Amino acid sequence: MLMSSVSRRLCAAAACLACAAAAFAQAELSLIPRPDSVQSREGRLTLRPGCAAALPAGCPESYGRALSEAAGFGVARADAPAAAAIRFLPADRLPSGAAPKGEGYALLVTPDALSVYASTPAGHFYGLQTAAQLLRAAPRENGSVALPGVEIRDAPRFGWRGYMLDEARHFSGREAVMRLLDAMAYYKLNRLHWHLTDSSGWRLEIKAYPKLTEVGSRGSETDRRPDAPAQFYTQAEIREIVAYAWERQIAIVPEVEMPGHADAAVLSYPELDGGGYVQKGRTDKWPRFTFNPAKPETLVFLDTVLKETAALFPGAGVIHFGGDEVHFGCQKWPSLPEVQSLMKKEGFTTIEEVETWFNRRMAASVNGLGFKTGGWDEVAARDLPRDKTVVFWWRHDKPQVLRGVLDAGYPVVLCPRRPCYFDFLQLESHTTGRRWSGINPLGDVYAFPEGLGLQPSDEAKVLGLQACLWAETTVSQARRDFLTWPRLVALAEAAWTPQARKDFASFQSRLPAHLQQLRARGIGFYDPFANSPEITDSQTG
Ligand code: ACM
Repeated sequence: MLMSSVSRRLCAAAACLACAAAAFAQAELSLIPRPDSVQSREGRLTLRPGCAAALPAGCPESYGRALSEAAGFGVARADAPAAAAIRFLPADRLPSGAAPKGEGYALLVTPDALSVYASTPAGHFYGLQTAAQLLRAAPRENGSVALPGVEIRDAPRFGWRGYMLDEARHFSGREAVMRLLDAMAYYKLNRLHWHLTDSSGWRLEIKAYPKLTEVGSRGSETDRRPDAPAQFYTQAEIREIVAYAWERQIAIVPEVEMPGHADAAVLSYPELDGGGYVQKGRTDKWPRFTFNPAKPETLVFLDTVLKETAALFPGAGVIHFGGDEVHFGCQKWPSLPEVQSLMKKEGFTTIEEVETWFNRRMAASVNGLGFKTGGWDEVAARDLPRDKTVVFWWRHDKPQVLRGVLDAGYPVVLCPRRPCYFDFLQLESHTTGRRWSGINPLGDVYAFPEGLGLQPSDEAKVLGLQACLWAETTVSQARRDFLTWPRLVALAEAAWTPQARKDFASFQSRLPAHLQQLRARGIGFYDPFANSPEITDSQTG
């Protein structure tokens, strides 16, 4: 029988799709983070518009949307796995090999179905992200997508895969944060450390202290006008963003800075003033840098702020209370009557003892609310409870501090300035940003934390890795994006992929497809392949 021209065209298209699928199967799949193990399997799976997915029971609508967007066509929801081309199944249904645990998952593509096996919602979620990446990268023809047969086994190296966003210095706002959360989830990052208060702005509505947002949220690092627009999150917005993140397996860890970095709060409630530091010849620094650490009103204020914060972030696990750089602003403490009477009462002879007393007092408050206390690495000198404290090691030039933190038995998040501070330059020829005996190029972020020489016994205490975007030099979202991406993609792979599977050349070969995907999400980035022009705020602000 003669073939009709339509069926000839369909056959040619099918052959073409088969060639493209074969070529696709030969090349390394452009998955980021690179999975623990990827094995090619016989055959391929063709997914057509309207194909059905049996999603994990009770999962949010966004799971189905993620698959549809990645496929480029509507994926219907199936009630039973047997009728579905995409299936989310319990770990014990895996046909062979060890069942995935915790955040791990297995993903099988056979000619019948794409199947994700996991024992937790997190495992299914990460399998979903890998499925979405496979779908986005696969060749398509006449609206169908062809996936090569593959078996993926995967689990993260570290449980804390984080990004810190400073919204105090310059405010990003709800839309940018939602977009960030979507991209973080796609790269299996699971902690947003939200730096919401600092000297240049207070961004968190506290009902008991309305002046924090009426007064303290006005302005920014570069706009100190008292009548600048108020920029902050209402409690309703916080709840919405926290729920949005939670749906994406991201816990948002709030940071409320104390006893330093407090100008915005003290400007709102001057009775809490503990003094600051005014550098000779400069007017741009912070005269109200600290709270008065011993005044009863300060303690009531901070307890109340922490209580409202705890209610807004119920699943955070950790409330970060800062604790860094107090030495910049505690010069006035010895002259404060409340500090003097505390020292007398407790028999303290040094201001360090006052700082330790304050840290322990506030850590007890955080712990009493059911949270661990997060603190910058200075808090390790304050002898806080090891089982209820998480230390964030940031001073890259003080490896002895990290050694002390590990030896003391604190769980630690590694976020040293180098290479984890993304306000540092990423290329020598860039002009705006920090450097400190060097810069933070993509390759250094990727290689982290291998250069630290951690022993296996140390690594057991390391919760994970975190990038930090301090926002002093980032007036615009375009610049924040430029500094963040693709370095955060590299950090995601460094935090997820086992050391033995890390390979920068391979990462670079997989990255271009992801730059295109970032662009499609409306996220800007520095393109290391095209050496795209630097974005400074003088161009975009
Ligand atoms: C810090 O960079 N002061 C934590």
